[in-house]
Amino acid sequence: MTEQTKHTAPLPFLQLERESGTPLYLQLIQQLRRMIRNGGIKPGQKLPSTRWMKEHHGIARSTLVAAYEQLDSEGYLQSRTGAGTFVNPEFPGLRPGASSPAKNNRLPNLSRRGKAAAEGLDPSYFEPPQVRPFIANIPAIDLFPHKIWGRIENRIRNRLDSAMMAYGQPGGYPPLRAAIADYVLNRRGLKCSPDQVIITNGSQQSLNLIAALLVDPGEKVLMEDPSSPVVRLSFQAQGGSVVPVRVSGTGAAVPPEGPDSAGARLAYLTPSCQYPLGAVMPIAQRLEWMDWAARTDAWLIEDDLDNEFVFGGRPDPAIYCDDHQARTIYVSSFNNALFPSLRLGFIIAPPVLAKPLMALSAITDRGPNTWLQAVLAEFIEQGHLSSHIRRMHSAYSRRRKAMLSSFARISSPLVELRQNTSGLRVIANLREDIRDMDVLGALGANGLSAYALSYYCMERQDLNGLLLGFGCTHEDDIPAAVEKLCACLATA
Ligand SMILES: Cc1ncc(COP(=O)(O)O)c(C=O)c1O
Repeated sequence: MTEQTKHTAPLPFLQLERESGTPLYLQLIQQLRRMIRNGGIKPGQKLPSTRWMKEHHGIARSTLVAAYEQLDSEGYLQSRTGAGTFVNPEFPGLRPGASSPAKNNRLPNLSRRGKAAAEGLDPSYFEPPQVRPFIANIPAIDLFPHKIWGRIENRIRNRLDSAMMAYGQPGGYPPLRAAIADYVLNRRGLKCSPDQVIITNGSQQSLNLIAALLVDPGEKVLMEDPSSPVVRLSFQAQGGSVVPVRVSGTGAAVPPEGPDSAGARLAYLTPSCQYPLGAVMPIAQRLEWMDWAARTDAWLIEDDLDNEFVFGGRPDPAIYCDDHQARTIYVSSFNNALFPSLRLGFIIAPPVLAKPLMALSAITDRGPNTWLQAVLAEFIEQGHLSSHIRRMHSAYSRRRKAMLSSFARISSPLVELRQNTSGLRVIANLREDIRDMDVLGALGANGLSAYALSYYCMERQDLNGLLLGFGCTHEDDIPAAVEKLCACLATA
């Protein structure tokens, strides 16, 4: 322990699980944050150096740098050039010995659902990522039509009447439900009655409601592997037991009958643009899923994420449109097309599930904010959503082109792009000797934010790449960002 002094926190509490699905840098962030808040590491205390951490905990320098930087940006830590990294003594709420770690760390007696949620992840996982090059899941908020939105918002605010200010209707604000029924008919050829539309706070809530309605604790949910970790957490937090279904070049296929999938209640699919790999599911495979659902008395969730942003061609019709047995629950969101903190999305439910979902949504939170729904309803009715999506489509085409041509120009032997035709991201497969999780720290230190593809995997070990979003970065800034990324990979 050559360089340890009595002022340096030795971090004996670190328990990193290399086999767990959570990347090491996230585990580090979560555990350090908890210890700082609990007083396990004191304000002003110095944290061990990267060399010490490598020797004692086998943590790569880049992983530790990424964790320290994140905690620095959150205000927990302070880096002092030449001196090291310290717990920020000014961080609000930190007082020496403020609380007893023993008391704070013990989980109270929670329900099985509560435990699944509390042990599944630390809420810090949902802390907002920085909006900077390559961050996926953030649209072009720089192009949001603030003036139009603001004008509608002002008008609605000025005519807030008692109906708008009292409790909202179950299922959502009726004009918005009607506008959505029209919108999906025009955009996706999807026919439904406004009574089947349930407005939610976004897809995340839609998935929670659906799982709560259909899945008892311990029951199986089939999920594409790889897929979104936050979606998986929704099902697990509702008690579902997630069964991975391997994604191929055509998305996920119905698994062979057997003990793994027997009795599954739900299958979660992203057929128009597999998330995150981008595969488009062919019609025959979709029909097999519909047949599976009808045969096994199960349900399909069709998450139609990214259907607005298909490059070169039109999106295939939604599964919902062809499902004559009405086993498909359609989920979509405005958070991707407009902005993520809007928190408005919707479910289009088969008629038999509409009322139970409305009841559950009313019990859960009495539905989203009515006047925000009214703003969105006018925005759609007046055609602004369609024109915004058209503008976004051309902006994203430019940004995507800049991304593809920058990689083509640099032609780095370390990355190979997987060409998706839809969605606001590309996948960069990495050369085998560069592990995706290990480069995140270096990217972060260079002002870039990417997600590691292996983090989206459940059982698979064969994927090693980066999800590189282009939605929120202007095309003029993309070439320099790609150069920086390739330079980081070259020194990884
Ligand atoms: C595949 C997928 N579906 C749904 C969601 C949640 O979307 P929303 O912001 O509407 O809750 C996410 C969020 O990242 C996602 O990755």
